[in-house]
Formats: sequence, C-alpha cells, structure tokens
Amino acid sequence: MQNTIYLDANATTALLPEVREAMLPFLDASFGNASSVHQRGQRARSAVDHAREQVATLIGCRANEVVFTSGGTESDNLALFGTLRAGDHLITSQIEHHAVLHAAEELQKRGVEVTFLAPKKDGRIETEAVRAAIQPNTRLVSIMLANNETGVLNPIAEIAKIAHEAGALVHTDAVQGGGKIVIDVRSFGVDLLSLSAHKMHGPQGAGALFVKKGVKLQPLFFGGAHERQRRAGTENVAAIAGMGVAAEYARSFLKNDGERQIGVLRGSLQEKLLQIPGTQINGNTERVCNTLNIRFDGVDADALVIALDLVGVAASAGSACQSGSTEPSHVLLAMELSERDARSSLRLSLSRLTKADEIDRAAEIIASTVQRLRNASL
Ligand SMILES: Cc1ncc(COP(=O)(O)O)c(C=O)c1O
Repeated sequence: MQNTIYLDANATTALLPEVREAMLPFLDASFGNASSVHQRGQRARSAVDHAREQVATLIGCRANEVVFTSGGTESDNLALFGTLRAGDHLITSQIEHHAVLHAAEELQKRGVEVTFLAPKKDGRIETEAVRAAIQPNTRLVSIMLANNETGVLNPIAEIAKIAHEAGALVHTDAVQGGGKIVIDVRSFGVDLLSLSAHKMHGPQGAGALFVKKGVKLQPLFFGGAHERQRRAGTENVAAIAGMGVAAEYARSFLKNDGERQIGVLRGSLQEKLLQIPGTQINGNTERVCNTLNIRFDGVDADALVIALDLVGVAASAGSACQSGSTEPSHVLLAMELSERDARSSLRLSLSRLTKADEIDRAAEIIASTVQRLRNASL
C-alpha cells in the first residue's frame, strides 16, 4: 500500500503529520473532558476553542458560529433536520451526497415537501431552476458546493441570493470544497455550511456545521449543553484539535497557490487520459481543482478499479459510500448519462500530497489497463 498511487482523495485523505502531532497529546497524557472544571478539562476546552477559531478562519465566520459534529454526514443531517418541520418545503438536488439525499427522503416521510432539482447535462444546478422551484412555504434550499463524484461547482452565491429574496434559508454541503477552494460564508451568503475533517487531511469522525448567528436550529441529540446546546455529547477533543490544524494547513495551502497547483496536475492527468480513444469527461465545466470523472467506452469501471488496484493505483467508480453497490451513480444518471456510460466512469481525485511523477505513472498505468480490459472483452 505504501507505493500505491492514491487518486481517491474525495473518499478520504491522509492525515498530515502536523495534524497527528496535534491530536496525540489528547489521546495520551493530556486526556480530559472539555466540560470538566479542573486543569485537564480547561486544557481540553482551550484546544476545542482554538480549533473553533481555526475552522472559523478557514471559512470566514465567527468562532461561535461553528458547531463541531462527527463529520459531514452529521453536519448535513443537523442542517436539514434542524431547520425543517412538517409542512415546510425543501429545495435540494438529485446530485447531492446521500447524507443530504437520504435525509431529505426521510424528511419527506415526515411531512416535508421536497423538490429534487435535476442538474444540467454538465452536472451543474442552474440558479434559474432554484428560482422556478420556490414556493411560499420554501424554508430551506440545500445545494452542494462541489459534487463529490464530478467535482462540478454550483453557483452558491447566486442561489443564496434567490433563496433569501424568497425568505428561505440556505445550506451548502461544502465537504468537497474544504481545503480545495476558498470558502467565505459571507460572500457565499449561506446560513449553514457543512465541512468534514477527513476530506482535508484531518481525522475521520470530525466535522463542523457553520450556523449563521441568529439561525434557529433544533438539535439532533439531547443531553448536555455542549456546543451551545446545538450538539449534545462530550467533544472528541483529539479529533477536533486535528480538524483545527487541518483547517489551518488548508488555509495556508490555498493562500500559497495550492488550488492552481493541484489544478495543473489534474489538467495534466486529464490531457494524458483523453488521448486514450473512446474517452470523455463527465462534468466538463467549472470544477473543483482535484477531481476528474472520466469514462472509457466499453470498459466496466468496477472491473477497472479492481484491475488498477492490483497494479498500484487507488481510484473509485463513484462515491465511497456507494462502492460495492451494483447501482450506477445517481449523479451521472441525473446528468442523463446512460446506465452503460455511468458504469464506464472512473473517478480520480488528487490531494495536496499527489506528486507530478505519480500523475505521469498513473496515466500510463490507466491507459494500459483500459487497453487490456478492452482487449479482454473482444
Ligand atoms: C459531498 C459530501 N458530503 C458529505 C459527505 C459525508 O462526510 P463524512 O464522511 O464526514 O460523514 C461526503 C463524504 O464522502 C461528501 O463527499
């Protein structure tokens, strides 16, 4: 596994050594409950507070607008279940991650009206589609920032403007944007925004929800008064401290031209792979810098992922939560790809740790593997 070329960063990313360092004391001698009055407790509390500042700085909000959660899934659930009641109307899209889609379906069963917008063929949710779906009872518009399968970016600031004109709240699942593009909640104009630590070189099992000051949120869990009564439960101090450092590194990466650098590597991979005959990009529009969703005619992507794994390239045939399932990607089907084309599509996602020579080698390996699979099926 050491020598694997890891091109599945949208599934998860490696922990940065600095993140690990920041976490270790709280798993070891500096353990403590952030609610305890004694010094151990205070140390844990100050680690959580510091991390809150770091995350707030990454997304341009105040520290008290950050609620720590167990990850992107919980943040999405808290945003939706926390704001919607029976009789309300939710506008979301068909291309959301299942953390939003399945939450929306559950809310539907509980009496919330839901509109699932279809994307354009390029995978983008149009601002005008949101405008056309607004109803007098629209309470929340939840559209993701960057799609986890295609990387396609949605016009969140424009969507937020329209939703606010209609008096609705706006949530964006920014899990795949964290550390890849500059996120500024004020210029996006959103009320709620989800982040996950493990997509930006932080630990799995930590996330955050930005909740704009004044937005009323019904908690998912009941218990202690943690997170200003918005998320009961003893804080995962080590993971939160790790998320804080991950946010700080993400910010400095973005400040230092990181987005462009990953974009150059992704561009080079794309260019090389497009030289393979019968190859098309899915979502060939404005995308987050690290993601490439590409289809190879006549190749079964599940077989390709397995074949690539055997020769040292880790990739994915869809989102990680879906892999292993036999269903083709709901995102690609919503973009009007045929089932066959959806099943021939490979997701390649780079991280800050991806090296140029890995891209060159991966492109060669993918080209020869695609050729081999095509020959085998003749
Ligand atoms: C867009 C998006 N939202 C939400 C999630 C869920 O995040 P987590 O794994 O932290 O629960 C993911 C993870 O793949 C994602 O890509």
